[in-house]
Amino acid sequence: MELIKLSPTEFKKVAKLIYERTGIHLPEAKCTLLSNRLRRRLRALKLDSFASYYELLLNDAKCSAELPHFLSAVTTNETYFFRNERLWDFFREQWIPEIVEQKKGKTRSIQIWSAASSSGEEAYTAAICLKEKLPDFASWRVSVMGSDISQDMLDRANAGIYNDYAVAKIPQATRRKWFDERDGHFVLKPSIKSMVSFKFHNLRDTFATSRIDLAFLRNVLMYFDLEMKKRVLVNVSKSIAPGGRLIVGDVDPIRNTPALQDVLGMAPSGLNQYQKPGGPDVCTRPMATMSKGN
Ligand SMILES: C[S@@+](CC[C@H](N)C(=O)[O-])C[C@H]1O[C@@H](n2cnc3c(N)ncnc32)[C@H](O)[C@@H]1O
Repeated sequence: MELIKLSPTEFKKVAKLIYERTGIHLPEAKCTLLSNRLRRRLRALKLDSFASYYELLLNDAKCSAELPHFLSAVTTNETYFFRNERLWDFFREQWIPEIVEQKKGKTRSIQIWSAASSSGEEAYTAAICLKEKLPDFASWRVSVMGSDISQDMLDRANAGIYNDYAVAKIPQATRRKWFDERDGHFVLKPSIKSMVSFKFHNLRDTFATSRIDLAFLRNVLMYFDLEMKKRVLVNVSKSIAPGGRLIVGDVDPIRNTPALQDVLGMAPSGLNQYQKPGGPDVCTRPMATMSKGN
């Protein structure tokens, strides 16, 4: 049987809806990809056309039940533990000592946000590094938050159970220490799981706090057009405390776009990272080039 595909008109309508809800910009070249992803929703709902699926999404009452599935279907969620090893070397060897220095004589608390956390690997990697490297860990109040618009991914993050692919870059000793192996899966130990919380958050909206010490915003800006990138950066910047840092992915659109640098209002402080003015003066080496294995 021939698989149905979104017609050009249907694609335009659905892509517009995706943009309005998520800020994700889908060019027409993604028509086959989008058709494949939404076809699974048609099957689940026993619908026989994209037109009836679109009608359902426009119907407020039915849409509220379908929206989480729709958002999960249209997002790209690729991630894994210790993605970009050089970044995590920086985090362990430079950022942790720097934050310890910054917080001397102040409340010993650290807030980290993995914005667009997907299934949680980035947030849990930060938690593992902190648990291993933060001196006198028990005396600190550490909060690692992850957020995403895909409810499927948030459910996976909350479960904390991963496959071979997700854990492949974790050093053996670290993997043995923080995971239990069960039925071919890797189950995070409660001592790491309990450090991290996940919630639904759309980057179009402001985040609940303005006290973040370090925000990760990696591998998501590339899905947005310039207007949405600006909006997201304004929101993320508001959430970061004076002196706090933002780390973006290797595909960093801020570096070469003055309009994005302006709205962000944070100075580059090494490749792929930015620092908000107003913090205590703590001098650190800039992070080395992170071009490999993003
Ligand atoms: C490729 S993953 C990146 C995961 C992780 N940050 C990393 O670098 O490994 C991109 C994530 O962005 C999320 N996303 C896309 N648009 C979003 C939005 N408007 N608000 C919040 N999350 C969004 C997707 O659901 C997806 O899980």
